[in-house]
Amino acid sequence: MRVLVTGAAGQLGLSLRRATEGSEDCYIFTDVEELDITSQSAVEEFVASERIDIIVNCAAYTDVERAEVEEDVAHRINATAVAHLAEAARKNDALLVHISTDYVFMGGCCGMLSEQSHPQPLNAYGRTKLAGERAIEASGCHYIILRTAWLYSEYGHNFVRTMLRLTAEREQVRVVSDQLGSPTYAGDLAEAIVAIIAERNFHEGIYHFTNLGECSWWQFATEIARLAGHTQCSVVPCTTAEYGARAARPHYAVLDKRKFMTTFRRDIPEWRESLKRCLDELQS
Ligand SMILES: NC(=O)c1ccc[n+]([C@@H]2O[C@H](COP(=O)([O-])OP(=O)(O)OC[C@H]3O[C@@H](n4cnc5c(N)ncnc54)[C@H](OP(=O)(O)O)[C@@H]3O)[C@@H](O)[C@H]2O)c1
Repeated sequence: MRVLVTGAAGQLGLSLRRATEGSEDCYIFTDVEELDITSQSAVEEFVASERIDIIVNCAAYTDVERAEVEEDVAHRINATAVAHLAEAARKNDALLVHISTDYVFMGGCCGMLSEQSHPQPLNAYGRTKLAGERAIEASGCHYIILRTAWLYSEYGHNFVRTMLRLTAEREQVRVVSDQLGSPTYAGDLAEAIVAIIAERNFHEGIYHFTNLGECSWWQFATEIARLAGHTQCSVVPCTTAEYGARAARPHYAVLDKRKFMTTFRRDIPEWRESLKRCLDELQS
């Protein structure tokens, strides 16, 4: 199989690069310079000329705060460009594996969100990602949409790397304790994608994929500091209102992973286990 990975310089793209080492499939990794997904002609030409069987779209506009002030830019990358990928996939009878987010949901007070739950984004980023999902569904292409959340890795900007730095430098860090969700180690998501492709396990549809278990950002930060041995820093809980972010976020957005695990017959590690794995990688 010839597999195109877009947005390959991002954290999921880099995790995929690693997860594909030794793969028998032919992966072609492209960053924004090599393939800008907002260019419909570039996308269509690439997919056709390279005889692509599967597109794994890791490219996205992921700055949730900035999206509030430039939703049009986020929409161009997260929705319009995704429609280009879906159209190219349809024309070439390729499969589109696309990554979406828990922020398509408003999130309730309790109860896990299933693939059947009604999406209702609270912020601009979530609206653009939902528009991307809808464009794929409307396109008629073959697709697998994986909704994930709180993605982190050894690479790029993410909560784990930020907390490692802050808890090493400071005596006190304030972290939001009234938003609950599930962290996702990008290495786990990348390995799952590579396995689906290697096993030709192409069950189309929307799936939820995060690590198992749930926590608040404060619990997540506390565990990062504990595992890193940064005991001199106190991680202090605060409310969303006290923190004062621009974009609204769900208070409780834990995704139900049962459909993914049953369909693809894959276990998913618990979040603390994967966090430890990532920290071990960072410290090795
Ligand atoms: N990060 C999270 O917490 C999180 C949570 C839920 C879902 N997700 C989803 O998971 C996926 C992977 O996220 P990530 O954290 O790996 O993102 P990331 O690290 O921000 O990487 C995204 C990559 O896409 C590239 N890109 C942006 N515009 C592009 C374009 N027009 N053409 C080609 N590439 C372009 C970016 O390049 P530049 O850096 O040069 O702009 C970047 O390398 C995304 O779909 C995201 O929405 C992420």
